[in-house]
Amino acid sequence: MSSNNGAPRLYSSGFGNEFASEALPGALPVGRNSPQKVAYGLYAEQISGTPFTAPRKENQRNWFYRIRPSVIHEPFNEIDSKLLRSGPFDEVPPTPSQMRWNPLPIPSEPTDFVDGLTTMAGNGDPGTQVGLAIHLYAANRSMEDRFFYNADGEMLIVPQLGTLVIHTECGVMDVPPLHIAVIPRGIKFRVVLPDGKARGYICENYGSSFRLPDLGPIGANGLANPRDFETPVAAYEDREGDFRMVGKFQGRLWEAKIGHSPLDVVAWHGNFAPYRYDLTRFQTINTVSFDHPDPSIFTVLTAPSEIVGTANCDFVIFPPRWMVAENTFRPPWFHRNFMNEFMGLIVGEYDAKADGFVPGGSSLHSCMSGHGPDTETFEKASNVELAPHYIDSTMAFMFETRFVPRPSKFALETDLRQEDYYKCWQDLKKNFDPGKKELESA
Ligand SMILES: [Fe+2]
Repeated sequence: MSSNNGAPRLYSSGFGNEFASEALPGALPVGRNSPQKVAYGLYAEQISGTPFTAPRKENQRNWFYRIRPSVIHEPFNEIDSKLLRSGPFDEVPPTPSQMRWNPLPIPSEPTDFVDGLTTMAGNGDPGTQVGLAIHLYAANRSMEDRFFYNADGEMLIVPQLGTLVIHTECGVMDVPPLHIAVIPRGIKFRVVLPDGKARGYICENYGSSFRLPDLGPIGANGLANPRDFETPVAAYEDREGDFRMVGKFQGRLWEAKIGHSPLDVVAWHGNFAPYRYDLTRFQTINTVSFDHPDPSIFTVLTAPSEIVGTANCDFVIFPPRWMVAENTFRPPWFHRNFMNEFMGLIVGEYDAKADGFVPGGSSLHSCMSGHGPDTETFEKASNVELAPHYIDSTMAFMFETRFVPRPSKFALETDLRQEDYYKCWQDLKKNFDPGKKELESA
């Protein structure tokens, strides 16, 4: 299998660096990208993640030094996409209703990461490289002789149950729950399930790639720090057999026979690399005076659009943190937003909901649809004595996007959908009394 199979995974740290890695000494050419002959009889191949002419700060590419070039495989044939959907997401009309779902069950039939992809919603389309798709995955079978790449977008993977061991062209990453992984557009990989089963969430980003948000007045440090992003070092597979390579291309799945592992990169350098990040390393910043800040304070990664401040997708987390705000309703307030919010829960409880939003579950609150704390949370937070309080053992997250994520037919019709979700707000009482300005304190 991989050249470092069984050994601890090795990583290089940093976000967006020019990485250089070799699994055999001297495999990486020095001073030029494409020498007449590459050491060890390797082929040189470039993969570009941006146009050649993208500005330097945007430009992404890798040089791979591999056993065989990527062109060696048989023609692609379309295969069943099962519950995977893609733009323009017009299966069913999108509803403005607030929606919430129970977790996807682990399949009873053998199902690998690709077969277990289940689309919940999306916007834009991969043809124009705008928007995103939001998928869940539930799998119980490792990909051993099957490989995958996504020409439609990069994939931000959020495990909720079970570790993923992601073998990529650039190396191998262990990605347990409370970590995320990002696989750039086109990078080939396979997913091994050491726990025998896995479940989680995916943002498939059709637009420009995820990056760290600017920090503005926060300063040089804080939120997700660049050095905590980890990129695998080179690890290659020199395997031959009757293998399959699946490509997601223009919204559909295509499969080609391939006689060898395409994860055969012995050395590489570049900045178009997969990475993982431990969400518990996020430096959470919050109010130390009053008012619940806008959730943008919790942004881990942002995928910008051409409009400044209007993200194609922000990836936002709600980690353990101290709540100390004075004379403040501390949970999220009631709100209606321009942006659209798809939420998931990795572990614990989310502070705006007393029940119903469980680990592995999801919710979608779309443009201008009102939402906020449920009745029980509102009553409690309005009357509780405001001592410093630590929200422990929790990790919720949000994919926040500028366009309405249009639900898939599956998402609207599945039994996992909580049709009674709206009831969590219906018991909010009318407290208004024009003759009573001052309310009793708790
Ligand atoms: Fe919200």
